[in-house]
Amino acid sequence: MLIHSASQLLTLDGGPQRGSHLGSLNIIPNGAVLIREEKIVDIGTSNEMLLKYSKEQPLDANQNVVLPGFIDPHTHLVWAGDRAEEFEMRLQGKSYLDIMAAGGGIQSTVKATRAADFDTLIYQTEKRALNMFFHGTTTAEAKSGYGLDIKTELKQMDVAFTLNEKIPMDIFPTFLGAHAIPSEYQFNPDEYVRIICKKMLPSVKDFSLRISPNRILPFVDVFCEKGAFSLLQSRIILERAKALGFPIKIHADEFENLGGVSLAVELGAISADHLVKTSRVDISALGESTTVAVSLPCTPFGLGESEYSPAKNMIAANCLFALASDLNPGTAWCGNMQFVMALACRFMGLTPAQAIAASTINSAAAIGQQNKIGSIEIGKQADLIILSVADYRQLAYQFGINLVETIIKKGKVYKKQSL
Ligand code: NIG
Ligand code: FE
Repeated sequence: MLIHSASQLLTLDGGPQRGSHLGSLNIIPNGAVLIREEKIVDIGTSNEMLLKYSKEQPLDANQNVVLPGFIDPHTHLVWAGDRAEEFEMRLQGKSYLDIMAAGGGIQSTVKATRAADFDTLIYQTEKRALNMFFHGTTTAEAKSGYGLDIKTELKQMDVAFTLNEKIPMDIFPTFLGAHAIPSEYQFNPDEYVRIICKKMLPSVKDFSLRISPNRILPFVDVFCEKGAFSLLQSRIILERAKALGFPIKIHADEFENLGGVSLAVELGAISADHLVKTSRVDISALGESTTVAVSLPCTPFGLGESEYSPAKNMIAANCLFALASDLNPGTAWCGNMQFVMALACRFMGLTPAQAIAASTINSAAAIGQQNKIGSIEIGKQADLIILSVADYRQLAYQFGINLVETIIKKGKVYKKQSL
């Protein structure tokens, strides 16, 4: 298949983009891409490519933008139910941490997720996942963390693996058993930490090796936060996970800075996420590390807060900066990376080009997939999107509507209206 007549073909070639390089879209005007099977085989201008591959089945981009599919490296995709009631409570003045301390918040979703059977969980999750795909996300990470017992955590991971096979969007699972202290262990949180290390992590490893098609281990993540897991508890869990061979991630500095970033850098975490209360010292440490700084602007927006990640300082400090949705029922029910970019430009001062790079090649790096996806380069997986507009800057400029017309996933074409 030859996709041709792209007003702008955003290749984003050259690997993940640090510091001042962030936003190098490497545009081919009037571009074309040749796809065979699941892969990108050639790239050039439409004039030369139409001559060279005249027998190839054409797909006319009609002078619209073509770019790599979005990669969302931080979601809590798999859950049951909703928390509309808590949203209303927050609007009436209760804070997220107040609601959590009173047994609501994550615990409410844990109850609903434990109670839901596998098919119900698939049904509710699939709708959200397809919605992400329609909005241009071709690959997403998906965390567990609404089970907090081995049975439900594995049920959530099973849903992630099952949907990965069932729908076109690729899903990379993460074990987040350390999302909250379950009510059963409220008075003995260290015992829960011991259970995670001794029982849950080995079970997750066995389960994943059995069920995952390519025997890849999921990520292990910890919510390092006041009211969740302390720095020491986070260290114990992540060190154990690392020793078992899991790649690791951390939720750090969402509400308070407990020191999660320095732990992430020390342990070589693949990413540190949230990063709202991150200090200058931590930002410098991130800038000198390979840990990707993942910012989630839907979260402060969803909570109606005015403080976002200090993205400009992070970029100036040479961080590998990426964006994600944080899709979850508590703080950010939004899996639309176009909206994430719109927020990133307005509240964190990114340019549209920087937001695009942070949602493609850099977010691929946040899940360790930068050699396979995230850019339009020969040999990479054919995961592309075609917009309904001719200028890439429309992406962050217009918001609240879907500018993705066509999704090409592993070389297969999906029209917005056909799913
Ligand atoms: O990323 N921070 C922890 N987890 C989610 C919220 C989860 C929830 O409230 O259900 C977050 O914001
Ligand atoms: Fe999160």
